[in-house]
Amino acid sequence: MDAPRHCVVTGVAGFIGSALARELLRAGHHVTGIDCVDDYYDRALKRARIEAVRGVEGGGGDFEFREVNLLDPALASALEGAEYVFHLAGRPGVRASWGERFEDFVRDNVLATQRLLETLKRSDIRRFVYSSSSSVYGNAEAYPTSEALRPQPISPYGVTKLAAEHLCTLYAREQAVPTVSLRYFTVYGPGQRPDMAFNRFIAAASAGRAIEIHGDGRQTRDFTFVDDIVRANLLAADHEGAGDVFNIGGGARTALLDVIPILERAMERPIALEFLPKSAGDARDTAADITRAREALGYEPRVSLEDGLTAQVWWQLGRAEGHRGAEGASV
Ligand code: UGA
Repeated sequence: MDAPRHCVVTGVAGFIGSALARELLRAGHHVTGIDCVDDYYDRALKRARIEAVRGVEGGGGDFEFREVNLLDPALASALEGAEYVFHLAGRPGVRASWGERFEDFVRDNVLATQRLLETLKRSDIRRFVYSSSSSVYGNAEAYPTSEALRPQPISPYGVTKLAAEHLCTLYAREQAVPTVSLRYFTVYGPGQRPDMAFNRFIAAASAGRAIEIHGDGRQTRDFTFVDDIVRANLLAADHEGAGDVFNIGGGARTALLDVIPILERAMERPIALEFLPKSAGDARDTAADITRAREALGYEPRVSLEDGLTAQVWWQLGRAEGHRGAEGASV
C-alpha cells in the first residue's frame, strides 16, 4: 500500500481499529474512521481513542471521523472514494452472546457486514480486509489449527463471525469485492478492551483484588499482540488473492495459569486467584497454524507474551495513575 491511499476503518473507536488507524496515519494515508460509538462499554474510552487517532502527527496523513452506524443510509457517503476498507466494527464478546442479546450480534456482525459488502460491490475498492476470529473454530479438530479444518463455533458470537466471513468469501467470488479475512487469536496489548481477560486481571490486581479465573485456568490461548495484528492488516491490504482466509496468531500457546507469573513479574506484586465456573461458549484451547499467512502474506508475529503483557501493564497502570498521555497508545 503505497501512501497516500484513501483508507476506511470501521470500528475506529475500538481497541484494534484505533491502533490500525494511527498506524495508517503515521504512514501518510488519508483515513476515514467510522464508528457508531455504542454503549457496549464505556463511551468515554471510545471517544478518547478517537481523539488519540486525531492527535497523530507527523505522518502527513489526514483523518476524518464519521459517527455512523453501518446500517444507516449515511454509510454510502462515508465510503465514497475508499480504496481500502478495514472492517473492524462488530459486536465482540464470546460469553455475552447467549440469550436475548443474540439479535445484537446478528445485526452488528452479520447484517452490518452484508450492508458494507453490498455498498462496495460496484466500487473501485482495491481491498476489503475483514476482522474475523479464532472463535469460528470452537473446540478445533486439531492444534495448531489450520484454515483447512472445518470451523465449528461453540458460541453464538462465533457463529456470527463465521457467517460474516462466509459473506466476505461469497462477495469475493460472486460480486468481485476483493476481500481477505483475518482470523485473530485473542488480541491483547495497550488499549485492550476492558471486558477482556488481561485488562480485567491487571485492573483487579492493581486494586489489590483477586483475579477471577473462569474454569480451571488450564485453557490455552494463542495470545496475539495488537501491533502484530495491525501489521497483518497492512500485509493483507497488499494481498492479491480475493476471498482468502488467514489465521493471525501470536506464535505461542499459553495456559491462562501460566500467564500469572508473567503478570506478577510485570506488576511486581503477588496475585491472588479466585476460581469461577467455566463460561459457556469458551473454547478450551486455541492455537493458530500460521503457515498460510507466513507464506502468502509474509506475516510473522514479532512480540512475545512477556514483552507484550509488560507493555499492557505499563499502559494500564499509567492510566490508572492518571497519565493520560498513553491513551490507547501502542509500543
Ligand atoms: C477474545 C475476544 O474477546 C473475542 O472478541 C475474540 O473473538 C476472540 O478473542 C478470538 O480469539 O477470536 P477470548 O479468547 O475469550 O476472546 O479472550 P479473553 O477475554 O482475553 O479471555 C481469555 C480466557 O480468559 C478465556 O478462557 C476466558 O474465559 C478467561 N477469562 C476471561 C477469565 O478467566 N477471567 C476473566 O475475567 C476474563
